[in-house]
Amino acid sequence: MFHEERRFEQPIRWGMVGGGRGSQIGYSHRNAAQRDGLFRLVAGAFDLNADRCRDFGVNIGLDGERCYPNYQAMFEAEAQREDGIQAVSIATPNATHYEICKAALHAGLHVVCEKPITFTTVEAEELKALAAEKQRVIGVMYGYTGFPMIHQAREMVARGDLGEIRVVNMQFAHGFHNEAFEEKEPGLKWRVSPEVSGPTYVIGDIGTHAFYLCEMITGMQVSRLSCMRQSFIPSRAPLEDNAHVMMEFEGGAVGTLWASAVNAGSMHQQKIRIVGSKASIEWWDEHPNQLRFEIQGEPPRILDRGMGYLYQEIEGVAASHIGGGHAEGYFESWANLYHRFALVFDAMNRGDEETAASIWIPGIDAGINGVRLCEKCVESADSQSAWVDF
Ligand code: NAI
Repeated sequence: MFHEERRFEQPIRWGMVGGGRGSQIGYSHRNAAQRDGLFRLVAGAFDLNADRCRDFGVNIGLDGERCYPNYQAMFEAEAQREDGIQAVSIATPNATHYEICKAALHAGLHVVCEKPITFTTVEAEELKALAAEKQRVIGVMYGYTGFPMIHQAREMVARGDLGEIRVVNMQFAHGFHNEAFEEKEPGLKWRVSPEVSGPTYVIGDIGTHAFYLCEMITGMQVSRLSCMRQSFIPSRAPLEDNAHVMMEFEGGAVGTLWASAVNAGSMHQQKIRIVGSKASIEWWDEHPNQLRFEIQGEPPRILDRGMGYLYQEIEGVAASHIGGGHAEGYFESWANLYHRFALVFDAMNRGDEETAASIWIPGIDAGINGVRLCEKCVESADSQSAWVDF
């Protein structure tokens, strides 16, 4: 079970860029970061509209003086304060991540950034180098990797319970955008606009989540891929609302990824199936407390979160907040990740790099590979789905 008593003397002073009133993902960050009392939100540049930012910030309990009209003003003013922010989360549309992240690192802040972290791997690598130079950490919000059953899956693969990994099936295929709703939904409008979304829509927006589950659980590296992408709503071109990717991994395993926003009738359908030489596992984000475990020749088993038969080594910060049987979900997964980010940021603040390195987080390398996935898929799709090296 989760150790509620783990506390710092003072919570990490934390700010946000984006995630303002009505945004899709702002509340998830605030809820997750503050759940265990390890971060305290003290400042924000939540919105493009300065008045709405201040109004919103005050309404959620902030000092109006620390609700800023833009991120530049926030980083500058907070750096002057003795009690200024030590970390920032970036929850703005994709086009802004690179500049904001760079400015945050220059301001000496640890960062939690939304995915995809940049438009290009060159930019993402630049952020990695800058973070190293400044001794700061970039965490990337691959929010599904905080689920305890994902950590169980990772442990099972590492221990060889599946045998040698042969095939990985990944998908994140919802149906919410099966029609051209973008004229009514600003959050979809920017997602299908290349200047804001970047080189992809569904590959970057949701495909990166399923892809990172594979990377995180198996540790396997893609060697090359072939991608087919299209837009069933023609006005979304050149961005895709549906994509299929075939992958080869180093070591001989193969995989497929289906990312779609036009899977009519589907809620999320984010699933991963990992097939080994002896057994397979399967996880579905709509039933995150369960992990299917199928050994060839035996009846399938459903492993449940919070049970004694799971690997206990994954306890600690990946642990359940409540015993098995009660449903845990998305918010707990995010909170588990923010808990880890806090431990890593705190260790770095104390100069304890060894501890920081020992705690698993989705970090900058995870972010870089997500951007690389987008780049390589576009490269392949634009050349009649040719195989391209990863
Ligand atoms: P949204 O359009 O709903 O909200 C964006 C917010 O950022 C708004 O409050 C807007 O006023 C503000 N904003 C925009 N530009 C800004 C700037 N320069 N400075 C300050 N505030 C600014 O967008 P949504 O859906 O919340 O997505 C934001 C990011 O989060 C995207 O990168 C997206 O890919 C990611 N995301 C990640 C999810 C995850 O599961 N990790 C889920 C949903 C979104």
